[in-house]
Amino acid sequence: MNIKFLGHSAVELNTDKNILIDPFILNNPLCGQTPDAFTPDAILLTHAHEDHIGDAIEIALRTCCTVYAVAELAGWLASQGVKVHGFNIGGSFLISETKVTAVEAVHSSSAPDGSYGGIACGFIIDYAGQILYHAGDTSQFAGMSLIGSKYKIDAAMLPIGGNYTMDIVDAVRASEMLSPRICIPIHYNTFPIITCDPMDFKRQLADIPINCEIMSPGDEINL
Ligand code: NI
Ligand code: MN
Repeated sequence: MNIKFLGHSAVELNTDKNILIDPFILNNPLCGQTPDAFTPDAILLTHAHEDHIGDAIEIALRTCCTVYAVAELAGWLASQGVKVHGFNIGGSFLISETKVTAVEAVHSSSAPDGSYGGIACGFIIDYAGQILYHAGDTSQFAGMSLIGSKYKIDAAMLPIGGNYTMDIVDAVRASEMLSPRICIPIHYNTFPIITCDPMDFKRQLADIPINCEIMSPGDEINL
């Protein structure tokens, strides 16, 4: 699979389908693109906060793609006219040949109008034997050990910016529990309150050792 980082937590995946995760595009100061540049087959949302739901509604209404979200958020999106697929934690579903499993995240979730958004989640994305873990917004949690023992993770995208999520220290501990082949830091330096130096994360992971790929917005890697 090809992973293109769009800044913050936004990712464009290419498997046999084009899949956007948390498409925070227009108001994302790191992205530099507009929503009309995207024509995904599917959109995955980790939770309903504005820096994750982003431009999902506009893109979904324009392209008629399905938005995959936790049941309560899916219900809210459906009320906005979006085609949805609701799931819950522990559930798996297929997007063509790509298997997606929703996993625990420790975080809150509410829609832009304040509606309850269900709970937040992360995703295990399995395509052609390659496994990506997108943690969404989360604190460190003990279940990361289970995720790390169940899945042979090729790439783990982990928030490091602190304040709303794990900071670098906790993300390093999370990485130890997950033992991925590569860690990719996300959810930092978008706003002043989540400023940090990803090189600190990379240096601390090197001591374990775990590889760290610091991706600039627009960068791509192929698993
Ligand atoms: Ni959030
Ligand atoms: Mn966030």
